[in-house]
Amino acid sequence: MTTYQFPENFLWGTATSSYQIEGAVNEGGKGESIWDRFTHTPGKIIDGSNGDVACDHYHRWAEDIALMQALGVQGYRFSVAWPRILPAGGSVVNQAGLDFYSRVVDALLAAGITPFVTLYHWDLPQAIQDRGGWPARATVDEFVTYADVITRALGDRVKHWITHNEPWCVSFLSYQIGEHAPGGHDWNDALRAAHHVLLSHGLATPVIRRNSPGSEVGITLNFTWTEPASRSVADLQAARIYDGYFNRWFLDPIFGRHYPADTVDAFSQAGLLADGLAYVQPGDMAAIAAPLDFLGVNYYTREVMRAGANGMPEPARELATLPRTEMDWEVYPDGLYKLLCRLHFDYAAPKLYVTENGCSYADALDAAGQVHDPQRIDYLRSHFVAAHRAILAGVPLAGYFVWSLMDNFEWAKGYQQRFGMVWVTYATQERILKESARWFKDVVAANGV
Ligand code: FCB
Repeated sequence: MTTYQFPENFLWGTATSSYQIEGAVNEGGKGESIWDRFTHTPGKIIDGSNGDVACDHYHRWAEDIALMQALGVQGYRFSVAWPRILPAGGSVVNQAGLDFYSRVVDALLAAGITPFVTLYHWDLPQAIQDRGGWPARATVDEFVTYADVITRALGDRVKHWITHNEPWCVSFLSYQIGEHAPGGHDWNDALRAAHHVLLSHGLATPVIRRNSPGSEVGITLNFTWTEPASRSVADLQAARIYDGYFNRWFLDPIFGRHYPADTVDAFSQAGLLADGLAYVQPGDMAAIAAPLDFLGVNYYTREVMRAGANGMPEPARELATLPRTEMDWEVYPDGLYKLLCRLHFDYAAPKLYVTENGCSYADALDAAGQVHDPQRIDYLRSHFVAAHRAILAGVPLAGYFVWSLMDNFEWAKGYQQRFGMVWVTYATQERILKESARWFKDVVAANGV
């Protein structure tokens, strides 16, 4: 069997986020977040569940870190819940919140695990949403204040910072499509939210560097590898617009290219830019393009796009025929290879980490109380091999975080989707290593597949 040996110092890790695992919704002085509000609004979550308890990680963090240590995991990407730190937004700090993350960081370092901290993985303080949320420009300053507070507190020990997780989800999915909190349905709000998220990233970056000397600062974007349904001009154009909307709307400004002109044109021809980009103020684009130390890449699937009504992209599902995960996401490891190459050869990203990749399948405990998940092993193996291929092509990929350490609250899909390498029996909070976790342990130990 071929072996794929990764470079020395390649970092293998797992990822989670605060709202998906912590629970302890009203403990330790935490304020309400938009996800607390949203999940308690009937009809928003498929199984009517919420993150009030989730994996109870707020109380079981030591056990969870021990679990990672047993797996030999070298890096752990987690997020800080903003409403634990600044319960009402603004600048009034809740010390108990800082203390919680400080203990987690100390325990990780003691376990030899490098912490990668995401500042914003979607749990905005509800108080800030009440003042306008991400569509309001004032939220940019709120974020910079928050970034300042948290990096002052942890910046001596945490040396890897991710400002935002998946700005596309924070903006379009949350303020226009309405599937995520706060459940908005306004295109202009989504455009503004996107801009303010990007701007907050750019303005927070120098603050983080000042508070955490010698650290690496980056942002995580989610990418869908987009392919045209045919070589027709219309389908090629549709795929380009979708790529512009989903990928380049965030990627281009971060790399100093402004919003992508072809997509701006397409939006305005479709009447989607009534007041142009009036919310962009002088200096914004330069701030957004603050130099990065790394780009975080979340990759799960691809889309095949054709030209629909008035040339706008629509999925050509009958052409996306590869096997799908339980999320109904097509398994397309080649997309990871092509994406990593594009980010290196086209954008010259200085360094890349896969900050999320993984899959949900209908796992179950067998009679012996074990979880046999060969599909997850296949999924991960094929994507690791794709990443390896990118490294051979010259891509500066420095690490890979599997989503997720353990089963958790999967947003609008509730607890029905299990992404973990560790099974969680929610009623008892028991953690059981799936077969994939044992396999991953060997991958880390061998630094290869
Ligand atoms: C990503 C999110 C992460 C998780 C995975 C499945 O979009 O960043 O929290 O839900 O999808």
